[in-house]
Formats: sequence, structure tokens, C-alpha cells
Amino acid sequence: MEIIIQKTAEEGSAVGGRIVAKLIQHKPTAVLGLATGSTPLKLYREMIKWHKEQGLDFSQVTTFNLDEYVGLSADHYASYSRFMNENLFDELNVPTQNIHIPNGLPENLAEHCAAYEREMVDAGGLDLQVLGIGSDGHLGFNEPTSSFASRTRIKTLDQQTVEDNQRFFKEGEEVPRHVITMGLGTIMEARTCLLFAFGEGKADAVAEMVEGSVSAMMPASVLQFHRDARIILDEAAASKLKKADYYKWVYSNKPEWQQY
Ligand code: PGA
Repeated sequence: MEIIIQKTAEEGSAVGGRIVAKLIQHKPTAVLGLATGSTPLKLYREMIKWHKEQGLDFSQVTTFNLDEYVGLSADHYASYSRFMNENLFDELNVPTQNIHIPNGLPENLAEHCAAYEREMVDAGGLDLQVLGIGSDGHLGFNEPTSSFASRTRIKTLDQQTVEDNQRFFKEGEEVPRHVITMGLGTIMEARTCLLFAFGEGKADAVAEMVEGSVSAMMPASVLQFHRDARIILDEAAASKLKKADYYKWVYSNKPEWQQY
């Protein structure tokens, strides 16, 4: 794991933006795995800036989102389809046919999940997966005790996640209990995993993921087995790491050719 600690979420997201930009400059047909939630919003602003101000071309890029609520149509205000259009795709030139987000209302759920996996393989596999981490350590919607070998499938949300996500829903409207999510096994096949965590509320989960035992109770700890997992934190999210000074030392001593 590479732990990158920046003062603020803005600075961390700028580092993330440079990593994504470098990948697309090097491989214009890159396949990106994308995430929703509050955390990647600043990264998406950086990607839009790269596109509008530096001419970064997304016309050959393909994307796959991590997850979607079961029961919400793509145009529901709280669907992840809508979120992605409003916060990213409306401002980029990714061709619509290259954008993949699980369908929250599939005719046959199991078949839809299997097809989603096949589409990722057919696209050449994920070059880079953007991730956040839940306060309970979930990746995508892989809640505690999810199998490390799991693939795209239906999951039932933990009550904690339902509460955490209530803020995205109108008063009186319930958070769906079921979701479709890429599995931990799916995520682990991405060539690079880029996880962002900002704010004090993530500090415990981050410390367990990076410095704790690998356990299905802390799904994000599976990244300890990933060959290229980069964890981008602000000072608050890094505040419970025992070896924070070491990670900063490593980052400030990176050889020039390895810098972002
Ligand atoms: P957040 O969610 O970015 O809204 O904190 C992260 C997650 O649940 O994975």
C-alpha cells in the first residue's frame, strides 16, 4: 500500500486528478472504475478541470461504476446514474455507450450482474478503480463479512450504511435496503486501486484498513493484498495512523520519476 497524506481533501484530490490524468495521457483507452458518495466529488472536479483547461481527452475512455441501489430507476434523483451524470459525465466527453452503471431495475438480477462482469472483461479489465471507504470499512457496498472473492451481485445494506446514506434522500423517503455492487474479488482485479478518505469520521476505518489485521469484518483491509493500492488521505483521516510520519517521509522522498 502507498499511503499519501495531504493537508486537505482539495490537495489530496488534486494528487488523484494527476494520477488519473497521467493514466489517460499514457493510455487514452483507459478503463476507469468509478465511485459515488461525497468523497470523490473533489476528484471529479479535478478531472473536469483537466478536461476543460488542459484538453484531457476522455473520448476513448470506458467507465464502470461500483454500485447502484436496487429499485431506483436511472433518473431517480438519488440514483447513482443521476449522480454520475450531474457530477461528472455531463462535463466530460466520455461517449454514452462507454459508460456502465449497474441497472437498478434489471429484469433478471443475477443475469445482469454476470453480464456486468463480462463487460468489464471484454473492455480489457479495469485499469484504475476509484474507491471511498464506509465508516464500517465497506468498499463499494461490500459490507463487513463480504467474501474477499465476491463478484458483482446483490447485497443487503448494513443498518449503519442506511443511516449514513439517509442524507442523500428526501425526508420521509427510505434508503433502499438492497444494492448491486461489484464484489471485493472484482475490485481486487483492477490494476490500480485509488482510495480516498477525508475527515475525522473516517480515521478509525482508515487505521484498521492500513495497519490492522486483514479481516472480512473490515472489507477494505483486503487492499493489503493488492499489488498497487494507493490510499489518499487528508490529515484528519490519517490522524489515527501509527506510522503517519513514515508515510509522509516516504512520500517526500519519492524519486522524481515516481512522483505524481
Ligand atoms: P462517502 O461514502 O464518500 O459519502 O463518505 C463512502 C462510502 O460509503 O464508500
